[in-house]
Amino acid sequence: MIDKSLFQLKGFKGIMTFLTIMAILQGVMIIFQAKYLAITVTNLFNGEKLSLQLLPILLFVTFYLAKQIIILWREKQMHTYASHTGSMIRQKFTNKLFILGPTITEKEGTGHLVTMALEGVSQLETYLKLFLPKVMNMVIIPIMIFVYTLTLDVRSSIILLLVLPTLLIFMVILGIAAKKKADTQYESHQLLSNHFVDSLRGLETLRLLGLSKRYDRNIQKVSERYRKSTMGTLRFAFLSTFALDFFSSLSVAIVALFLGLGLIGEHMFLLPALTVLILAPEYFVPIREFGTDYHATLDGKNAFQAISDVINLPEKKQTNSTKLLCWNSESKIDVENLTFQHQDAHQPTLNNLSFSWKGYGKIGIIGASGSGKSTLINILGGFSEPNSSRIRINDIALNDFSETSWQEQLLYIPQHPYIFHNTVANNISFYTPDASKADIEKASERAGLSDVIATLPNGYEEQIGESGRILSGGQEQRIALARAFLDDKRKILLFDEPTAHLDIETEWELKSNMLPLLENRLVFFATHRLHWMMEMDQIIVLDHGEIVEIGTHEELVASKGHYHNLIQAQMHGTGERHEQ
Ligand SMILES: Nc1ncnc2c1ncn2[C@@H]1O[C@H](COP(=O)(O)OP(=O)(O)O)[C@@H](O)[C@H]1O
Ligand SMILES: [Mg+2]
Repeated sequence: MIDKSLFQLKGFKGIMTFLTIMAILQGVMIIFQAKYLAITVTNLFNGEKLSLQLLPILLFVTFYLAKQIIILWREKQMHTYASHTGSMIRQKFTNKLFILGPTITEKEGTGHLVTMALEGVSQLETYLKLFLPKVMNMVIIPIMIFVYTLTLDVRSSIILLLVLPTLLIFMVILGIAAKKKADTQYESHQLLSNHFVDSLRGLETLRLLGLSKRYDRNIQKVSERYRKSTMGTLRFAFLSTFALDFFSSLSVAIVALFLGLGLIGEHMFLLPALTVLILAPEYFVPIREFGTDYHATLDGKNAFQAISDVINLPEKKQTNSTKLLCWNSESKIDVENLTFQHQDAHQPTLNNLSFSWKGYGKIGIIGASGSGKSTLINILGGFSEPNSSRIRINDIALNDFSETSWQEQLLYIPQHPYIFHNTVANNISFYTPDASKADIEKASERAGLSDVIATLPNGYEEQIGESGRILSGGQEQRIALARAFLDDKRKILLFDEPTAHLDIETEWELKSNMLPLLENRLVFFATHRLHWMMEMDQIIVLDHGEIVEIGTHEELVASKGHYHNLIQAQMHGTGERHEQ
């Protein structure tokens, strides 16, 4: 009933103890409240004066109020606990995402992760807040009432006891069916959100390809499915609430019938009969409430499961406690037999790559789309772990590149750098928040941004990024470059097709700004645009995940192999005409 994994939560045992005490107190209040109400009514029935009934009435009101206060206080405590736990889990979850890096987004889908972090966590909060108190009430209060009625009228308490299993069996059957419903509901919700976010991200491309209309229908279809499953779950919840109400009312009616018969037969007194009659509905209330909320909180349970699964994913181990020195002209990198296979792929994406380099230098990674360039950059960045390899840096063996002292030296410039919703200045100094204004301006100058910034109404204080001013692809790229210019300490650059989406003029203009950045650093530059290769000190030519050639531009042209063919193909109009 209560998920075992919940016990891992901080403060969970404490909160369960608190709930147990509260449930016992609530049970005591319910019993005394019923007792004094029955005493008052019986006395009045026996013809006593109302003025003499002040004490029992006062006691009844006191116990009633005390019960309400207990409920309110518990609610408040649970609210604090739930929101506290919620934000803790959200924090843990996002921290984990940071540690796991882009591989997890690739696997789970951005939409799904966003749903988990936002909706999943608030569903978990509801679950904790509503469900846990109900569970404890259900376990404790009926037992207390049963024991109390046993002292008053054995026959009634046996009726109460007999009805209970019927109700419970019924609830379990409903619960199993509801769980199935909620599972499909959660799945279709995930599907919808993945679909939606991914479509939004790809909207530009879809429009370009003239596919936006078709996708429109696709989204409609998924939403329709979601609507249907929501209605299905709701219908189910309503039906089961009705059934629970029906059964518990029936049970109270049966108890009332027997009490009435007992009173007519005159082998029973009014006071115990009335007390039992008042307590009978209270006996069923916790069970009914549990049943009602069970459906409402199932989502939270599922969400918690999904979030825990991500939080408990294994992290890559740090293999080496030796701190790598900052990359310098004497440093060495040796990679041998590096192989990587995507989880659901049939053959390796990268097969047996070997290369090495000493000191500063520019290493071009070239190959057709799908040849494995991005995969290699991801591995070099430590975001993915190779299946097998022998990696040595300065003759220190590493399992993979997720070593902190390696990652601390990296600057990664992807095809679409991320622009934060913030000012221009803060975006540029995002990784070096201590940079002075003069440094920021110098870096923007070098990245060719000064002219653009001069035209902005607020200059460096202009808001950019989401819901701010939207920059062009070239401008975003320049921001990424300015970030790199600011950070002199990071000596290893990873570029993944940084200019792939730029037009030729912008690319040429940027190129002259970028070249000085590549000096006195170790640079891995993945692209399928050949003109960059003239600047490289070594070129790795990838084809279907294998290194087919390796050497300088001149060597590769002279050997008339794969690289030569690439150049020929691009020169004869199949590629971009401006190459070479
Ligand atoms: N998450 C993934 N699962 C399975 N295969 C993938 C995944 N990502 C990429 N691939 C495959 O790996 C190959 C190399 O991809 P990638 O490294 O992105 O190539 P490039 O950057 O050179 O275009 C491609 O054939 C691609 O289909
Ligand atoms: Mg790529």
